[in-house]
Amino acid sequence: MKDIRLGIIGGGQLGKMMAQVAQRMGLSVWVLDPYEACPASFVADHTIVGSFQDEKAIRDLASHCTVTTYDIEHISTEAIKKIEQEGHQFAPSPELLALIQDKGLQKDFLSRKGIPMPRFQLMDEIKREEIQRFGLPCVQKTRKGGYDGRGVHVIRGDKDFERAFPKDFLLEELVSIEKELGIMVARNREGSVVTYPLTEMVFDERANICDMVIAPARVPKEVEKQAQQIAIACVEALQGVGIFGVELFLSTDGRILYNEIAPRPHNSGHYTIEACETSQFEQHIRAVLNLPLGSPRLVSPAVMFNLLGEPGHEGSPIIEGFEEALSVPGLAFHFYRKPTTKPFRKMGHITITAPTLEEALDRAMSIRQKIRILSEDV
Ligand SMILES: Nc1ncnc2c1ncn2[C@@H]1O[C@H](COP(=O)(O)OP(=O)(O)OP(=O)(O)O)[C@@H](O)[C@H]1O
Ligand SMILES: [Mg+2]
Repeated sequence: MKDIRLGIIGGGQLGKMMAQVAQRMGLSVWVLDPYEACPASFVADHTIVGSFQDEKAIRDLASHCTVTTYDIEHISTEAIKKIEQEGHQFAPSPELLALIQDKGLQKDFLSRKGIPMPRFQLMDEIKREEIQRFGLPCVQKTRKGGYDGRGVHVIRGDKDFERAFPKDFLLEELVSIEKELGIMVARNREGSVVTYPLTEMVFDERANICDMVIAPARVPKEVEKQAQQIAIACVEALQGVGIFGVELFLSTDGRILYNEIAPRPHNSGHYTIEACETSQFEQHIRAVLNLPLGSPRLVSPAVMFNLLGEPGHEGSPIIEGFEEALSVPGLAFHFYRKPTTKPFRKMGHITITAPTLEEALDRAMSIRQKIRILSEDV
């Protein structure tokens, strides 16, 4: 192996955990982020400060790296396409990124490939009659830029039109959800594919943000098998290179439906650090460098929950319950070193592994209430 340098556009928690693994494997890491003190900067060999739309900054990064990847998908794909043509390597490809950035194109492409998903329709601007014809209640989603539920709006009746997105959105049938499921799939340039166990994603109702992940999902074997097949079919249809987080719904009428895909490590895959033979971060690095993929085998049941910023607190973070957390057996504490906490901001996470899923869940439930991310200056 010669010297390899990994470039990461985005220095948030995903970039940080990716950089930590890269360092362990003997690679050097450069990061591009708008903030000098971003989480990944504490691990990377070098941080370039610049925006994700800044062609010059992206070129600076890519020209110093063997391969450049991302921890976020809201990046200028125009810039990346240009820089790629100059001979620099990116993974996943800018074409794939552009497709995924636009939920309309993403759903259209994958539904044509036969991926089962909620009924949907693209719309340029809001037209009440057409939305009513589509059928209420329905879910309105902005095509671009949404994350952590911010681009999602449910329309049930007249009053919901007031806060609706005005243009460039898609409508989806409101699925009656039994469980939200997440699954990680990795594929390298040669086309080798591995899939991780199916997980359950539990959402915080107040913020519409995933706050707990249960691995493996408590569903019949047949559901897991089907979900894995759908997830692999998505990544193969996209000819994706890297790791992908596929979000699915198990509906109350027993359908398994595709929701969306992230072209990067994913919150629902954090448990793999402690619970699987190869973490999602290592797998991503292997895939983008076209190395043999590692075993995704689950070594232990696990529960992961996010440490979200406490509502009403904004400023330098203070962790309440840190010592109590560390006294729980099988608990791994992750804190991202974001300089400020905000309501519901992902500040860290905890993974608990245990001999049985019930034990992991019991421990997670009891410690979860004792940890809060507050701020000094409320
Ligand atoms: N068609 C649907 N029917 C019912 N609920 C839905 C539907 N689409 C989305 N939701 C709910 O809204 C949440 C967020 O939707 P989605 O994943 O599309 O948006 P996002 O902003 O990209 O989210 P995130 O960044 O949290 O993954 C889903 O996890 C689910 O709880
Ligand atoms: Mg989502």
